[in-house]
Amino acid sequence: MNNMQGKFPSTRLRRNRMKEFSRRLVAENTLSVNDLILPLFVCEGNKVDDPISSMPGVSRHSIDKLLSEVEKAVKLKIPAIAIFPQIESGLKNSEGSLAVDENNLVCRSIKSIKKDFPNIGIVCDVALDPFTDHGHDGLVINDKIDNDKTLEVLEQQALVQANAGCDIIAPSDMMDGRVGRIRTALDSNNLADTLILSYAAKYASGFYGPFRDAIGSGSNLGKDGKLTYQMDPSNSDEAIREVGLDISEGADMVMVKPGMPYLDIISRIKSEFKVPTFAYQVSGEYSMIKESINKGWLNEKVVMESLLSFKRAGANGILTYFALEAAEKLKNE
Ligand code: PBG
Repeated sequence: MNNMQGKFPSTRLRRNRMKEFSRRLVAENTLSVNDLILPLFVCEGNKVDDPISSMPGVSRHSIDKLLSEVEKAVKLKIPAIAIFPQIESGLKNSEGSLAVDENNLVCRSIKSIKKDFPNIGIVCDVALDPFTDHGHDGLVINDKIDNDKTLEVLEQQALVQANAGCDIIAPSDMMDGRVGRIRTALDSNNLADTLILSYAAKYASGFYGPFRDAIGSGSNLGKDGKLTYQMDPSNSDEAIREVGLDISEGADMVMVKPGMPYLDIISRIKSEFKVPTFAYQVSGEYSMIKESINKGWLNEKVVMESLLSFKRAGANGILTYFALEAAEKLKNE
């Protein structure tokens, strides 16, 4: 122990904890509304508010209803939202062709949101899984996810979304080389100001289960699931390589996903690269916490505790399905 730290009885670490004022003064990390990104699910139709059974309290909304959710975020000063579409199964195919259609559900949502709320940031996934009938993020050719053929489609998907008004393109597919490819495409199409938030260290995780229910992408993935492109949960050095590459290819921000099981990765990335780093508290994390609170097994204070853990690990911001309720709590503090 460093002898500057003194010892008992003259040093009593509990002294700082005795009163609320001193606890507030010595707090090392704080969560603010500026740290939050709200993910939202959108579906076709009118006046639809369709609860997702494995995500208590979260619904898919048709665009008209989505706007009321965005309005709540705007009123609470949440800086950005992320849009995820549930595509009707009849409109999916093996190539995910709808992903590159400028009138698809994502592009229509972006335009409607920008019309009513021009200042809120909009984040959109670039990946084919909502649009493919097999649920993979890339094109399946000869039973393999074909990296380079997929890049051609991702580039087009990024362009239609950016042209519709998306502020932050978030490639979540984990193909090699996609950030560089998308950056070049954006730059050569007058979209040099569109940001890229790379899902840089995205693990092949079981915690995405409820999300796949929400968008209907989970049933046909096959026995290896997404293991040939998403990262192995055993690996940590590899996350550093992924992030290093994505930054060199032009990523403005990077993300680690899932969140709480991977706090060590956030911390390593932040200390090695010192770039804007985001955490995604994913659907499975949300549902575990939310349902435990609903059942009375956990106190609702665990929501803020879980979000603070990301700040302590070094994250600049958090994508979380708790964003509205957290922002509400922060406002009343
Ligand atoms: C798709 C994507 C996934 C999530 C965000 N984008 C799921 C997956 O890779 O299967 C998961 C988000 C969550 O679980 O909340 N590329």
